[in-house]
Amino acid sequence: MKTFYIETYGCQMNVSDSELVVSLLKDKGYKHTDNYKNSDIILVNTCAVRAKAELRVKGKLTLYKNLKKSKPDLTVGLLGCMAQRTKDKLLEQEPVLDFIVGPDAYRDLHNLIEKAEIGQRAANVILSKEETYEDIAPVRLDKNGVSAFVSISRGCDNMCSFCIVPFTRGRERSRSDKSIIEEVKDAFAKGYREVTLLGQNVDKYYFEETNFAQLLQKVANIDEKLRVRFSTSYPQDFSNELIQIMASYKNICKSIHLPVQSGSTRILEKMRRGYSREWYLDRIKAIKETLPTCSISTDIIAGFCSETDEDHKETLSLLELLKFDSAFMFKYSERPNNYAQRNYIDDVTEETKSRRLSEIIELQSKLSYQSNEKDMGKTFEILVEGTSKRSEKRLFGRNTQNKVIIFDCDKKIIGKYVNVKVTSFTQATLLGEICS
Ligand code: SAH
Ligand code: F3S
Repeated sequence: MKTFYIETYGCQMNVSDSELVVSLLKDKGYKHTDNYKNSDIILVNTCAVRAKAELRVKGKLTLYKNLKKSKPDLTVGLLGCMAQRTKDKLLEQEPVLDFIVGPDAYRDLHNLIEKAEIGQRAANVILSKEETYEDIAPVRLDKNGVSAFVSISRGCDNMCSFCIVPFTRGRERSRSDKSIIEEVKDAFAKGYREVTLLGQNVDKYYFEETNFAQLLQKVANIDEKLRVRFSTSYPQDFSNELIQIMASYKNICKSIHLPVQSGSTRILEKMRRGYSREWYLDRIKAIKETLPTCSISTDIIAGFCSETDEDHKETLSLLELLKFDSAFMFKYSERPNNYAQRNYIDDVTEETKSRRLSEIIELQSKLSYQSNEKDMGKTFEILVEGTSKRSEKRLFGRNTQNKVIIFDCDKKIIGKYVNVKVTSFTQATLLGEICS
Protein backbone atom coordinates (compact mmCIF):
# COMPACT_ATOMS: atom_id res chain seq x y z
CA MET A 1 0.00 0.00 0.00
CA LYS A 2 1.44 3.38 -1.04
CA THR A 3 1.48 6.15 1.56
CA PHE A 4 0.87 9.86 1.03
CA TYR A 5 1.56 12.97 3.05
CA ILE A 6 -0.31 16.24 2.50
CA GLU A 7 0.55 19.71 3.74
CA THR A 8 -1.73 22.69 3.47
CA TYR A 9 -1.10 26.40 3.01
CA GLY A 10 -3.57 29.27 2.93
CA CYS A 11 -7.20 29.55 3.91
CA GLN A 12 -9.71 27.31 5.67
CA MET A 13 -11.09 26.30 2.29
CA ASN A 14 -7.73 24.74 1.50
CA VAL A 15 -7.82 22.79 4.77
CA SER A 16 -11.28 21.59 3.78
CA ASP A 17 -10.02 20.65 0.30
CA SER A 18 -7.15 18.66 1.81
CA GLU A 19 -9.75 16.69 3.78
CA LEU A 20 -11.48 15.85 0.49
CA VAL A 21 -8.19 14.82 -1.08
CA VAL A 22 -7.42 12.47 1.82
CA SER A 23 -10.85 10.90 1.39
CA LEU A 24 -10.49 10.54 -2.40
CA LEU A 25 -7.07 8.90 -2.11
CA LYS A 26 -8.04 6.58 0.74
CA ASP A 27 -10.90 5.35 -1.44
CA LYS A 28 -8.35 4.49 -4.10
CA GLY A 29 -6.31 2.41 -1.65
CA TYR A 30 -3.64 4.90 -0.56
CA LYS A 31 -2.69 5.29 3.09
CA HIS A 32 -2.47 8.73 4.73
CA THR A 33 0.59 9.50 6.90
CA ASP A 34 1.65 12.50 8.99
CA ASN A 35 5.34 11.91 8.36
CA TYR A 36 6.68 13.16 5.03
CA LYS A 37 9.99 11.37 5.48
CA ASN A 38 8.39 7.91 5.28
CA SER A 39 5.91 8.80 2.61
CA ASP A 40 5.86 7.58 -1.02
CA ILE A 41 3.90 10.59 -2.18
CA ILE A 42 4.10 14.21 -1.00
CA LEU A 43 1.23 16.57 -1.83
CA VAL A 44 1.50 20.33 -1.29
CA ASN A 45 -1.85 22.16 -1.25
CA THR A 46 -1.00 25.76 -2.06
CA CYS A 47 -2.22 29.37 -1.85
CA ALA A 48 -1.68 32.07 -4.49
CA VAL A 49 -3.34 35.04 -2.85
CA ARG A 50 -0.08 36.91 -2.20
CA ALA A 51 3.40 36.52 -3.69
CA LYS A 52 4.77 35.62 -0.25
CA ALA A 53 2.51 32.55 -0.02
CA GLU A 54 4.02 31.25 -3.26
CA LEU A 55 7.59 31.95 -2.10
CA ARG A 56 7.05 29.82 0.98
CA VAL A 57 5.93 26.92 -1.20
CA LYS A 58 8.96 27.30 -3.45
CA GLY A 59 11.18 27.09 -0.36
CA LYS A 60 9.44 23.87 0.64
CA LEU A 61 9.97 22.40 -2.83
CA THR A 62 13.73 22.85 -2.38
CA LEU A 63 13.52 20.63 0.70
CA TYR A 64 11.67 17.95 -1.27
CA LYS A 65 14.16 18.25 -4.13
CA ASN A 66 16.93 17.33 -1.69
CA LEU A 67 14.87 14.49 -0.26
CA LYS A 68 14.29 13.12 -3.75
CA LYS A 69 18.06 12.81 -4.27
CA SER A 70 18.15 10.04 -1.67
CA LYS A 71 14.67 8.74 -2.55
CA PRO A 72 14.35 8.77 -6.35
CA ASP A 73 10.97 7.00 -6.29
CA LEU A 74 9.34 9.78 -4.29
CA THR A 75 6.37 11.40 -6.05
CA VAL A 76 5.73 15.10 -5.43
CA GLY A 77 2.53 16.85 -6.51
CA LEU A 78 1.42 20.47 -6.33
CA LEU A 79 -2.26 21.11 -5.56
CA GLY A 80 -4.50 24.12 -5.11
CA CYS A 81 -4.46 27.77 -6.13
CA MET A 82 -0.78 28.15 -7.00
CA ALA A 83 -1.03 25.01 -9.13
CA GLN A 84 -4.03 26.45 -10.93
CA ARG A 85 -2.35 29.81 -11.45
CA THR A 86 0.97 28.57 -12.79
CA LYS A 87 -0.43 25.57 -14.68
CA ASP A 88 2.11 23.36 -16.48
CA LYS A 89 4.64 26.21 -16.60
CA LEU A 90 5.73 25.21 -13.11
CA LEU A 91 6.43 21.65 -14.28
CA GLU A 92 9.15 23.12 -16.48
CA GLN A 93 10.57 25.36 -13.78
CA GLU A 94 10.46 22.84 -10.93
CA PRO A 95 11.81 19.43 -11.97
CA VAL A 96 11.00 18.10 -8.48
CA LEU A 97 7.29 18.20 -9.36
CA ASP A 98 5.73 15.10 -10.88
CA PHE A 99 2.30 16.59 -11.38
CA ILE A 100 0.14 19.67 -10.94
CA VAL A 101 -3.55 19.60 -10.09
CA GLY A 102 -6.01 22.47 -9.69
CA PRO A 103 -8.83 22.73 -7.10
CA ASP A 104 -11.54 21.35 -9.41
CA ALA A 105 -9.58 18.32 -10.64
CA TYR A 106 -8.96 16.30 -7.48
CA ARG A 107 -10.99 13.36 -8.76
CA ASP A 108 -8.17 12.87 -11.27
CA LEU A 109 -5.46 12.80 -8.59
CA HIS A 110 -4.95 9.02 -8.52
CA ASN A 111 -4.52 9.00 -12.32
CA LEU A 112 -1.87 11.69 -12.08
CA ILE A 113 -0.08 9.71 -9.36
CA GLU A 114 -0.17 6.53 -11.46
CA LYS A 115 1.19 8.40 -14.47
CA ALA A 116 3.97 9.87 -12.35
CA GLU A 117 4.94 6.37 -11.25
CA ILE A 118 5.66 5.42 -14.84
CA GLY A 119 7.56 8.62 -15.43
CA GLN A 120 4.87 10.71 -17.11
CA ARG A 121 4.65 14.22 -15.72
CA ALA A 122 1.28 15.89 -16.22
CA ALA A 123 -1.03 18.76 -15.19
CA ASN A 124 -4.79 18.82 -14.77
CA VAL A 125 -5.98 22.37 -14.23
CA ILE A 126 -9.45 22.14 -15.75
CA LEU A 127 -11.89 24.37 -13.88
CA SER A 128 -15.47 23.21 -13.58
CA LYS A 129 -18.78 25.05 -13.36
CA GLU A 130 -20.39 22.19 -11.45
CA GLU A 131 -17.85 20.38 -9.28
CA THR A 132 -18.69 20.67 -5.56
CA TYR A 133 -17.39 17.26 -4.39
CA GLU A 134 -20.67 16.99 -2.52
CA ASP A 135 -20.69 13.19 -2.62
CA ILE A 136 -17.26 12.96 -0.94
CA ALA A 137 -17.19 12.49 2.84
CA PRO A 138 -14.12 14.44 4.02
CA VAL A 139 -11.58 12.76 6.31
CA ARG A 140 -11.23 15.29 9.15
CA LEU A 141 -7.61 16.25 9.72
CA ASP A 142 -8.16 18.09 13.00
CA LYS A 143 -7.33 15.58 15.71
CA ASN A 144 -9.56 17.01 18.46
CA GLY A 145 -12.80 15.89 16.84
CA VAL A 146 -14.70 18.95 18.07
CA SER A 147 -14.82 21.49 15.25
CA ALA A 148 -15.29 20.70 11.55
CA PHE A 149 -15.17 22.68 8.32
CA VAL A 150 -18.00 22.13 5.87
CA SER A 151 -17.69 23.75 2.47
CA ILE A 152 -21.00 25.03 1.10
CA SER A 153 -19.89 26.75 -2.09
CA ARG A 154 -16.83 26.94 -4.33
CA GLY A 155 -15.29 29.62 -6.51
CA CYS A 156 -16.09 33.33 -6.61
CA ASP A 157 -17.79 35.60 -9.14
CA ASN A 158 -17.00 38.88 -7.40
CA MET A 159 -13.84 39.75 -9.26
CA CYS A 160 -12.41 42.21 -6.76
CA SER A 161 -9.66 43.83 -8.82
CA PHE A 162 -6.77 42.86 -6.49
CA CYS A 163 -7.77 39.23 -6.11
CA ILE A 164 -6.52 36.07 -7.83
CA VAL A 165 -9.10 33.70 -6.32
CA PRO A 166 -11.72 33.93 -9.13
CA PHE A 167 -8.98 32.79 -11.52
CA THR A 168 -7.70 29.95 -9.37
CA ARG A 169 -11.00 28.65 -8.03
CA GLY A 170 -13.29 29.45 -10.94
CA ARG A 171 -16.97 30.27 -11.05
CA GLU A 172 -19.16 30.42 -8.00
CA ARG A 173 -21.34 27.35 -7.40
CA SER A 174 -23.33 26.11 -4.42
CA ARG A 175 -23.58 22.63 -3.08
CA SER A 176 -27.02 21.12 -2.42
CA ASP A 177 -28.46 21.94 0.99
CA LYS A 178 -29.38 18.27 1.39
CA SER A 179 -25.76 17.13 1.10
CA ILE A 180 -24.60 19.88 3.49
CA ILE A 181 -27.19 18.89 6.11
CA GLU A 182 -26.22 15.23 5.78
CA GLU A 183 -22.54 16.04 6.26
CA VAL A 184 -23.25 18.17 9.33
CA LYS A 185 -25.55 15.52 10.86
CA ASP A 186 -22.85 12.93 10.31
CA ALA A 187 -20.23 15.15 11.98
CA PHE A 188 -22.57 15.71 14.95
CA ALA A 189 -23.19 11.97 15.28
CA LYS A 190 -19.40 11.45 15.37
CA GLY A 191 -19.12 13.86 18.32
CA TYR A 192 -18.34 17.16 16.59
CA ARG A 193 -19.94 20.10 18.37
CA GLU A 194 -19.13 22.94 15.99
CA VAL A 195 -19.22 23.40 12.23
CA THR A 196 -17.90 26.30 10.17
CA LEU A 197 -19.69 26.70 6.86
CA LEU A 198 -17.16 27.77 4.25
CA GLY A 199 -17.26 29.65 0.98
CA GLN A 200 -15.40 32.57 -0.63
CA ASN A 201 -18.66 34.52 -0.26
CA VAL A 202 -21.13 32.51 1.81
CA ASP A 203 -23.80 35.21 1.48
CA LYS A 204 -24.21 34.36 -2.19
CA TYR A 205 -25.04 30.73 -1.39
CA TYR A 206 -28.09 29.70 -3.36
CA PHE A 207 -29.34 26.21 -4.11
CA GLU A 208 -32.75 25.72 -5.65
CA GLU A 209 -35.03 27.60 -3.22
CA THR A 210 -32.56 27.91 -0.34
CA ASN A 211 -30.53 31.07 0.31
CA PHE A 212 -27.73 31.41 2.86
CA ALA A 213 -29.90 32.63 5.76
CA GLN A 214 -32.25 29.69 5.21
CA LEU A 215 -29.38 27.23 4.97
CA LEU A 216 -27.95 28.55 8.22
CA GLN A 217 -31.34 28.08 9.87
CA LYS A 218 -31.56 24.49 8.63
CA VAL A 219 -28.08 23.72 9.98
CA ALA A 220 -28.81 25.41 13.31
CA ASN A 221 -31.99 23.32 13.65
CA ILE A 222 -30.01 20.05 13.54
CA ASP A 223 -29.24 20.23 17.27
CA GLU A 224 -29.03 23.05 19.78
CA LYS A 225 -25.79 21.54 21.09
CA LEU A 226 -24.17 22.14 17.71
CA ARG A 227 -22.52 25.51 17.25
CA VAL A 228 -22.61 27.01 13.78
CA ARG A 229 -20.10 29.47 12.33
CA PHE A 230 -19.55 30.70 8.80
CA SER A 231 -16.88 32.39 6.72
CA THR A 232 -16.46 34.55 4.68
CA SER A 233 -19.19 37.17 4.42
CA TYR A 234 -19.28 39.94 1.86
CA PRO A 235 -20.50 43.44 2.86
CA GLN A 236 -22.52 43.95 -0.32
CA ASP A 237 -24.47 40.73 0.18
CA PHE A 238 -24.80 40.65 3.97
CA SER A 239 -28.58 40.66 4.42
CA ASN A 240 -30.90 41.79 7.20
CA GLU A 241 -32.58 38.40 6.92
CA LEU A 242 -29.26 36.82 7.93
CA ILE A 243 -28.95 39.15 10.91
CA GLN A 244 -32.46 38.16 12.04
CA ILE A 245 -31.71 34.44 11.74
CA MET A 246 -28.50 34.91 13.72
CA ALA A 247 -30.48 36.66 16.44
CA SER A 248 -33.06 33.88 16.70
CA TYR A 249 -30.64 31.01 17.30
CA LYS A 250 -28.40 30.79 20.35
CA ASN A 251 -26.26 28.16 18.63
CA ILE A 252 -25.42 30.41 15.65
CA CYS A 253 -22.23 32.01 16.91
CA LYS A 254 -22.25 35.75 17.39
CA SER A 255 -19.16 36.43 15.35
CA ILE A 256 -18.90 37.83 11.83
CA HIS A 257 -15.87 38.11 9.60
CA LEU A 258 -16.67 40.97 7.23
CA PRO A 259 -13.63 42.05 5.18
CA VAL A 260 -13.68 45.79 4.49
CA GLN A 261 -10.24 46.04 2.72
CA SER A 262 -10.10 49.86 2.86
CA GLY A 263 -11.79 52.79 4.58
CA SER A 264 -11.67 54.98 1.48
CA THR A 265 -14.61 54.90 -0.92
CA ARG A 266 -12.33 55.91 -3.80
CA ILE A 267 -10.06 52.91 -3.15
CA LEU A 268 -13.04 50.59 -2.64
CA GLU A 269 -14.25 51.62 -6.10
CA LYS A 270 -10.87 50.85 -7.61
CA MET A 271 -10.93 47.53 -5.80
CA ARG A 272 -14.32 46.91 -7.48
CA ARG A 273 -15.82 45.90 -4.17
CA GLY A 274 -19.23 47.30 -5.06
CA TYR A 275 -19.81 49.16 -1.77
CA SER A 276 -18.74 52.44 -0.20
CA ARG A 277 -17.41 53.33 3.23
CA GLU A 278 -20.95 54.51 4.14
CA TRP A 279 -22.51 51.24 3.00
CA TYR A 280 -20.09 49.29 5.15
CA LEU A 281 -20.76 51.52 8.18
CA ASP A 282 -24.48 50.99 7.67
CA ARG A 283 -24.07 47.18 7.62
CA ILE A 284 -22.14 47.30 10.90
CA LYS A 285 -24.82 49.54 12.39
CA ALA A 286 -27.52 47.04 11.39
CA ILE A 287 -25.51 44.18 12.92
CA LYS A 288 -24.84 46.01 16.18
CA GLU A 289 -28.47 47.09 16.56
CA THR A 290 -29.80 43.54 16.45
CA LEU A 291 -26.75 41.66 17.73
CA PRO A 292 -25.16 43.97 20.32
CA THR A 293 -22.74 41.33 21.63
CA CYS A 294 -21.61 40.12 18.22
CA SER A 295 -17.87 40.33 17.52
CA ILE A 296 -16.74 41.64 14.15
CA SER A 297 -13.42 40.98 12.46
CA THR A 298 -12.12 42.20 9.14
CA ASP A 299 -9.39 42.11 6.47
CA ILE A 300 -7.39 45.18 5.44
CA ILE A 301 -5.08 45.74 2.48
CA ALA A 302 -2.45 48.48 2.84
CA GLY A 303 -0.99 50.27 -0.16
CA PHE A 304 -3.34 49.32 -2.99
CA CYS A 305 -2.70 51.01 -6.35
CA SER A 306 -2.88 54.83 -6.16
CA GLU A 307 -3.60 54.84 -2.39
CA THR A 308 -2.66 58.23 -0.92
CA ASP A 309 -1.92 59.17 2.67
CA GLU A 310 -5.45 60.60 2.78
CA ASP A 311 -6.95 57.23 1.75
CA HIS A 312 -4.75 55.49 4.30
CA LYS A 313 -5.97 57.88 7.03
CA GLU A 314 -9.53 56.96 6.14
CA THR A 315 -8.67 53.31 6.77
CA LEU A 316 -7.19 54.22 10.15
CA SER A 317 -10.24 56.31 11.02
CA LEU A 318 -12.59 53.47 10.04
CA LEU A 319 -10.68 51.08 12.31
CA GLU A 320 -10.83 53.59 15.15
CA LEU A 321 -14.54 54.16 14.59
CA LEU A 322 -15.61 50.53 14.36
CA LYS A 323 -13.16 49.03 16.85
CA PHE A 324 -12.97 45.60 15.26
CA ASP A 325 -12.29 42.78 17.68
CA SER A 326 -9.55 41.51 15.38
CA ALA A 327 -8.24 41.92 11.85
CA PHE A 328 -6.05 40.27 9.25
CA MET A 329 -3.84 42.94 7.72
CA PHE A 330 -1.81 42.68 4.53
CA LYS A 331 0.40 44.67 2.22
CA TYR A 332 -0.98 44.80 -1.30
CA SER A 333 0.71 42.18 -3.44
CA GLU A 334 0.27 42.43 -7.20
CA ARG A 335 -0.97 39.18 -8.76
CA PRO A 336 -0.42 38.29 -12.42
CA ASN A 337 -3.23 38.83 -14.94
CA ASN A 338 -5.99 39.98 -12.62
CA TYR A 339 -7.87 43.25 -13.21
CA ALA A 340 -5.60 45.44 -11.07
CA GLN A 341 -2.43 44.10 -12.67
CA ARG A 342 -3.78 44.65 -16.19
CA ASN A 343 -5.31 48.08 -15.58
CA TYR A 344 -3.49 49.88 -12.75
CA ILE A 345 0.06 50.64 -11.74
CA ASP A 346 1.33 49.16 -8.50
CA ASP A 347 2.65 52.59 -7.60
CA VAL A 348 2.83 52.64 -3.81
CA THR A 349 6.45 52.01 -2.88
CA GLU A 350 7.39 49.03 -0.74
CA GLU A 351 8.58 51.41 1.95
CA THR A 352 5.24 53.24 2.07
CA LYS A 353 3.29 49.97 2.08
CA SER A 354 5.36 48.79 5.04
CA ARG A 355 4.90 52.03 6.93
CA ARG A 356 1.14 52.05 6.38
CA LEU A 357 0.83 48.41 7.31
CA SER A 358 2.71 48.94 10.57
CA GLU A 359 0.49 51.91 11.42
CA ILE A 360 -2.58 49.76 10.79
CA ILE A 361 -1.19 46.87 12.85
CA GLU A 362 -0.20 49.18 15.70
CA LEU A 363 -3.67 50.70 15.87
CA GLN A 364 -5.45 47.36 15.58
CA SER A 365 -3.24 45.83 18.30
CA LYS A 366 -4.38 48.58 20.64
CA LEU A 367 -8.02 47.97 19.67
CA SER A 368 -7.73 44.18 20.04
CA TYR A 369 -6.21 44.74 23.47
CA GLN A 370 -9.09 47.02 24.44
CA SER A 371 -11.59 44.50 23.12
CA ASN A 372 -10.07 41.82 25.38
CA GLU A 373 -9.82 44.21 28.32
CA LYS A 374 -13.61 44.63 28.18
CA ASP A 375 -14.02 40.87 28.76
CA MET A 376 -12.13 40.92 32.08
CA GLY A 377 -14.23 39.45 34.88
CA LYS A 378 -16.94 38.21 32.51
CA THR A 379 -18.03 34.59 32.37
CA PHE A 380 -18.44 32.92 28.99
CA GLU A 381 -19.81 29.61 27.86
CA ILE A 382 -17.05 28.03 25.83
CA LEU A 383 -16.75 24.89 23.77
CA VAL A 384 -13.55 23.13 24.81
CA GLU A 385 -11.51 22.30 21.70
CA GLY A 386 -8.25 20.82 22.94
CA THR A 387 -5.01 21.23 24.82
CA SER A 388 -3.05 24.44 24.38
CA LYS A 389 0.07 24.31 22.24
CA ARG A 390 2.35 25.18 25.16
CA SER A 391 1.17 22.67 27.74
CA GLU A 392 -0.89 19.48 27.86
CA LYS A 393 -2.47 20.59 31.15
CA ARG A 394 -3.87 23.78 29.73
CA LEU A 395 -7.02 23.60 27.67
CA PHE A 396 -8.47 26.05 25.23
CA GLY A 397 -11.88 26.77 23.84
CA ARG A 398 -13.79 29.61 22.22
CA ASN A 399 -16.70 31.71 23.27
CA THR A 400 -19.50 32.50 20.83
CA GLN A 401 -17.56 35.64 19.76
CA ASN A 402 -14.76 33.34 18.53
CA LYS A 403 -12.30 34.50 21.18
CA VAL A 404 -9.88 31.88 22.46
CA ILE A 405 -9.86 31.35 26.24
CA ILE A 406 -7.13 29.32 27.94
CA PHE A 407 -7.66 27.64 31.31
CA ASP A 408 -6.56 24.64 33.41
CA CYS A 409 -8.69 21.52 33.58
CA ASP A 410 -8.69 17.82 32.89
CA LYS A 411 -8.55 16.74 29.26
CA LYS A 412 -11.73 14.70 29.59
CA ILE A 413 -13.85 17.83 29.15
CA ILE A 414 -12.65 18.32 25.55
CA GLY A 415 -15.76 18.57 23.36
CA LYS A 416 -17.94 19.80 26.24
CA TYR A 417 -19.46 23.20 27.02
CA VAL A 418 -18.20 24.85 30.21
CA ASN A 419 -18.41 28.28 31.83
CA VAL A 420 -15.11 30.07 32.19
CA LYS A 421 -14.46 33.37 33.95
CA VAL A 422 -11.84 35.64 32.39
CA THR A 423 -9.13 36.46 34.93
CA SER A 424 -6.40 37.96 32.75
CA PHE A 425 -5.63 38.64 29.10
CA THR A 426 -3.14 39.59 26.43
CA GLN A 427 -3.80 41.28 23.11
CA ALA A 428 -4.22 37.85 21.49
CA THR A 429 -5.88 35.66 24.13
CA LEU A 430 -8.00 35.54 27.22
CA LEU A 431 -6.98 33.48 30.27
CA GLY A 432 -9.59 32.19 32.65
CA GLU A 433 -10.76 29.89 35.39
CA ILE A 434 -13.42 27.26 35.08
CA CYS A 435 -16.56 27.95 37.12
CA SER A 436 -17.91 24.93 38.98
N1 SAH B 1 -13.49 35.91 0.07
C1 SAH B 1 -12.28 35.29 0.43
C2 SAH B 1 -11.10 36.17 0.30
C3 SAH B 1 -9.92 35.39 0.01
S1 SAH B 1 -8.47 36.26 0.10
C4 SAH B 1 -12.36 34.61 1.76
O1 SAH B 1 -13.03 33.65 1.88
O2 SAH B 1 -11.72 35.02 2.74
C5 SAH B 1 -8.37 36.70 1.83
C6 SAH B 1 -7.91 38.10 2.05
O3 SAH B 1 -6.63 38.28 1.47
C7 SAH B 1 -8.77 39.17 1.38
O4 SAH B 1 -9.89 39.52 2.13
C8 SAH B 1 -7.81 40.30 1.23
O5 SAH B 1 -7.79 41.14 2.36
C9 SAH B 1 -6.46 39.63 1.11
N2 SAH B 1 -5.95 39.68 -0.28
C10 SAH B 1 -6.51 39.18 -1.38
N3 SAH B 1 -5.77 39.48 -2.48
C11 SAH B 1 -4.70 40.20 -2.03
C12 SAH B 1 -3.60 40.80 -2.68
N4 SAH B 1 -3.43 40.75 -3.98
N5 SAH B 1 -2.68 41.44 -1.89
C13 SAH B 1 -2.85 41.52 -0.55
N6 SAH B 1 -3.88 40.97 0.10
C14 SAH B 1 -4.81 40.32 -0.62
FE1 F3S C 1 -11.43 37.52 -3.85
FE2 F3S C 1 -13.28 39.37 -3.65
FE3 F3S C 1 -13.95 36.84 -4.18
S1 F3S C 1 -11.52 39.12 -2.30
S2 F3S C 1 -12.38 35.64 -3.23
S3 F3S C 1 -12.80 38.20 -5.49
S4 F3S C 1 -15.02 38.25 -2.78
